[in-house]
Amino acid sequence: MSHLLSVSDLHVGFGKDPVANEVVHGIGFTLDPGETLAIVGESGSGKSVTALSVNRLVDFGGGKITGGRIDFTLGSGAVIDLAAAPEKELAAIRGREIGMIFQEPMTSLNPVHAIGEQIAESFRLHHGLTGKQAMRAAIDALERVRIPDAARRLKYHPHQLSGGMLQRVMIATALSCNPRLLIADEPTTALDVTVQAQILALLSELKRESEMGLVFITHDIGLVAGIADKVMVMQNGKAVEQGRPMRCSMIRSIPIRSIF
Ligand SMILES: Nc1ncnc2c1ncn2[C@@H]1O[C@H](COP(=O)(O)OP(=O)(O)O)[C@@H](O)[C@H]1O
Ligand SMILES: [Mg+2]
Repeated sequence: MSHLLSVSDLHVGFGKDPVANEVVHGIGFTLDPGETLAIVGESGSGKSVTALSVNRLVDFGGGKITGGRIDFTLGSGAVIDLAAAPEKELAAIRGREIGMIFQEPMTSLNPVHAIGEQIAESFRLHHGLTGKQAMRAAIDALERVRIPDAARRLKYHPHQLSGGMLQRVMIATALSCNPRLLIADEPTTALDVTVQAQILALLSELKRESEMGLVFITHDIGLVAGIADKVMVMQNGKAVEQGRPMRCSMIRSIPIRSIF
C-alpha cells in the first residue's frame, strides 16, 4: 500500500542558482490517511518552504525543487510525484485534494465581501453548486467548524470576526472540497492560547471525522505533543529528529512551551 504522502530526499532552493541557494537539504517523511504529522522548528528552519513544496506554491515565491520526490496518492488511487508534476495538474490538485491554511487568515480573505459569499464561491468553483445550494453548503461548512449561528454569520465581513473565528472560516473554506490532505502552517500562532487550543482540538476532530491526513506546522512543540502521531523537528533545513511524540528526546527534555 502506498502512503497518502511520501516525501523523500527533498531539496529546495531559491533564486537564479537554487542548488547553491539551497534551504531545504534532503528531508523525508511519510503520512497516512487519518495521521497527523507535526513539523516543528524555530523560525527560518524550513517548515514553510517544506509545506509550500508539497503543493508547489513554492514555485510562485521563486523557489525550485532541485531534488527528491513528493509522492501523493490521489482520490483515484493513482500516485503522482508532485515534485515533477506540471502546473496544470498541480492546479487541479491544489484546493481539491490538498487544502492549506495559513497563519494570517485576513490575508486570504477579501475584506470587501461577506464571508458567506467567499465560502459559497469555493463551492461554486469546486462543486458546481449555484445560488441557494452554494449558500446552503456555506452554512453547513460553518456549522462543521462549530461556528454558532452560522446562517447569520454568513453576512459578516472579515473585520467583524475575531481571529479565532476567521481561522475557523479559513478551515471551513479549505475543507469545502474535502481534501485528502490538509496542511496547516502555524494556523494558531497569531491567536491567544485558549483559542489556539480550541482550533487545534477542532482540527483534530475534523481530521478524525474525515480521515484526511494533517500536516501541522508550529514553532511550539508543546502545542502539538497531544495531537501528533509523528513529529519531525527541523533545524537549518534539515530534519534533526523524527519519530513518535513521546520518543522524541527534544520533546521529553525541553520544558513544554518554552522552546524556540
Ligand atoms: N521566497 C523566498 N526567497 C528566498 N529565500 C526564502 C524564501 N522563502 C523562504 N526563504 C528562506 O528559506 C529558509 C526557510 O524559510 P521558512 O521555510 O519560511 O522557515 P520557517 O517556516 O521554518 O520559519 C529561510 O532561510 C528563508 O530565509
Ligand atoms: Mg513559516
